[in-house]
Amino acid sequence: MLRLMTDAPMPQFPAGFVWGASTSSYQIEGAVSEDGRGVSIWDEFCRQPGKIRDGHTGDVAADHYHRWKSDVELMAGLGLSAYRFSIAWPRVQPSGSGEANKRGLDFYDRLTDALCAAGITPVPTLYHWDLPAPLERSGGWLSRDTAYRFAEYAGIVAARLADRIPMWITLNEPFVVMMHGYGLGTHAPGRQLLLHALPVAHYQLLAHGLAAQALRAAGARQVTIASNLSPAEPASDDPADVAATAAYDALHNRLFTDAVLLGRYPDLSGFGVEAARLLPVEDGDLEVIATPVDALGVNYYNPSRVSALPGSPLPYRTEPIPGYPVTAFGWPVVPDGLRQLLVELRERYGDALPPIYVTENGCSRADVPARDDMVTDPERISFLDGHIRAVHAAIAAGVDVRGYFVWSLIDNFEWAEGYHQRFGLTYVDFETQARIPKASYAWYRDLIAAQRS
Ligand code: FCB
Repeated sequence: MLRLMTDAPMPQFPAGFVWGASTSSYQIEGAVSEDGRGVSIWDEFCRQPGKIRDGHTGDVAADHYHRWKSDVELMAGLGLSAYRFSIAWPRVQPSGSGEANKRGLDFYDRLTDALCAAGITPVPTLYHWDLPAPLERSGGWLSRDTAYRFAEYAGIVAARLADRIPMWITLNEPFVVMMHGYGLGTHAPGRQLLLHALPVAHYQLLAHGLAAQALRAAGARQVTIASNLSPAEPASDDPADVAATAAYDALHNRLFTDAVLLGRYPDLSGFGVEAARLLPVEDGDLEVIATPVDALGVNYYNPSRVSALPGSPLPYRTEPIPGYPVTAFGWPVVPDGLRQLLVELRERYGDALPPIYVTENGCSRADVPARDDMVTDPERISFLDGHIRAVHAAIAAGVDVRGYFVWSLIDNFEWAEGYHQRFGLTYVDFETQARIPKASYAWYRDLIAAQRS
C-alpha cells in the first residue's frame, strides 16, 4: 500500500549516509555553443519538428553554465553531502575524439573546486545522453568504436579531475538510451530499430567496462554505473502475462545489471530465439564489461505491471497500476516498490552485489508559484518522505544502501517533454531564470539537518 506522509519521525540512517541531489548537463546547462562546445545528438534532435513537446530545446535550459555559483549555494543551503551532475562529452571533445577542449574541462574544474570548497562531494556522470553528433554519424552506439572513444574521453576527464573526485558514474540509464534512443525513437538520436537496437546495449556496456579501466588508470578511486530499474509484476496470473513479465524484467532490469555484476547476459528467449544473437559479443568483451564496480547506482521512479502483447516485437505492455496516486507525468507513486527493488537486488545478486546508491528518485508536479512567490508542493514532499522511508526499510532488511539522490536539484529540460515536467526541489522561472526554493527544498534541508544532529 502507498505509505502516505506520516507524523512518525523519520528513522535515523546510518552515520555517513550520503544525502544528495542530481542533475544532468543537457537538462540544465544551456550555453550550447559557448567555449568551444561541440554539437550533441540532443541539439539536433530538438531541432526536428514534433520530437519535443512545444518545440522546446535545451539551448538555454536552466542557464546553469552561467549560474553554477548560485546553484552551488542552493546545494550548500540544503546541506547536501554530494551532488550528482553530468559532464557534457561535446564540451570536452567537441567532435567526440582527439584532443580535449581546455575551456570545456575548465568549467567542470571550477565546479568541482566550488563543490569541494562547500564540503559537497562531486559525483560526475560521464554520459547522460548528450553524445557528440559526429560520433552518431559514424554509427553512434551501434558502433563498437564509440566504446573506445568513450574510454578515451573518460581518461581525459579523469586525468583532470580524479584528484578531487572520489566516485565516478560511467553511464546513466543505458536501457533508456537503447530503447528510447535507438529502439522506439522517442529520444535522440531518434532511431526506431526495436530489438535491433540490442547492439546499443552491448556497446554501451563495453564502453562502461573500458571506461572503468581508463578511470582507474587515471587515478579514480570508485566507479559505478546508474541504471533505471523497475520491479515488475504480471497484470494477472495468466501464463502469458507471467512470461511477458519475465521478458520485460530481462530487458529492463537484468540486461545491464547481470552483464556488469555477473559477466553474462540474461535469457532473452522471451523475445524469440534469435534475440541473443543480436548482441555483437566478441571474445573477452564480457570480462571487460564485468570489470569490478565499487557500487551500483539505481534510479527508481515506479514499479511496472506487465501484460502480454502477442505478435509484437516487444511482446509486452505496461498497464496502469490501480489504487495509487500518479505524478504529473502519470507515473504511479509506489514508495514500497523501491524497498522491494532493493531487497530483490540483494536476493538476486547476493555477494556479487556491491553497495547501492539510489542515484535518482523524484516526482514531477505542475508547480506554480503563489502570489507571495512560495511554491507549495505537498505531493513531492509526500513522495520523497515515502521513498526515503522505503530506503530505510531496505537497509533494515539488510541491503547495503549508502546514499540517496533526489532528482532533481532544480527544474530542468525534461527530454521529450520539454519544460513541462518539473522535478526540482527548486522552482526555475524559465523566462527570467529566477530560482525559488520550493517547500520540498526546506523539507529536505530539515531532514538532512536532523539526520546529522
Ligand atoms: C530519468 C533520467 C533523468 C530525468 C528523470 C526524470 O530517466 O535519467 O534525466 O529525466 O528520468
